[in-house]
Amino acid sequence: MFITLEGPEGSGKTSHIPLLVEFLRGEGYAVFSTREPGGTSISEQIRDILHDLKNTEMHPRTETLLYQAARAQIVEQVIQPRLAAGEIVISDRYYDSTIAYQGYGHQQDLEQVRGLVRYATGGLTPDLTILLDLDVEVGLRRKKQNQSEWNRMDDHEVKFYERVRAGYLEMVKAEPQRWVVVNSEQKWDDVQAELKKVILEKLTR
Ligand code: TMP
Repeated sequence: MFITLEGPEGSGKTSHIPLLVEFLRGEGYAVFSTREPGGTSISEQIRDILHDLKNTEMHPRTETLLYQAARAQIVEQVIQPRLAAGEIVISDRYYDSTIAYQGYGHQQDLEQVRGLVRYATGGLTPDLTILLDLDVEVGLRRKKQNQSEWNRMDDHEVKFYERVRAGYLEMVKAEPQRWVVVNSEQKWDDVQAELKKVILEKLTR
């Protein structure tokens, strides 16, 4: 079972995943969690280039390709082997982030971006993708307040994130059997409870 969490800035994905992993392990599942971009030594090095605030001249095509390079490595080195060993893999972001940010956000050709994503992943699609959805301004405010890393991808204008969110919602509409939307403007505990419920339902169905 391959589960991915997606969402705009400040949606809280990263804070929810460790507790979900603990919960699922408590239920007896073998679970491995990772994040994108990153999760392998090579992918973390690429992450540093992508997120370095100094790299203001980076072209969207360069950015798109670097995300795919980091992704190809983690798919081959970590995700596929863990899935083959029967583990549940939970990833903090996956290829839908590329469609949302590089496709919708940077307004690049969606078919070309989808082609690159297919190449990078070798066609590996999540079984379940959860969108932690919230108002863009609320998310950016949260992100600024919680003192997590502020990187180059956090430095766009608000309109960029509005396109990203609209892109996510279009993806949900296009593939409703894979996506579940969770409102992340609820209280943190309520979001966590809903995430557990959604994942357990998928695992036990
Ligand atoms: P995060 O670790 O705080 O979620 O930061 C990751 C940033 O990278 C976030 O702004 C989304 C962005 N991103 C893309 O633009 N494309 C991608 O394919 C991925 C995985 C992330």
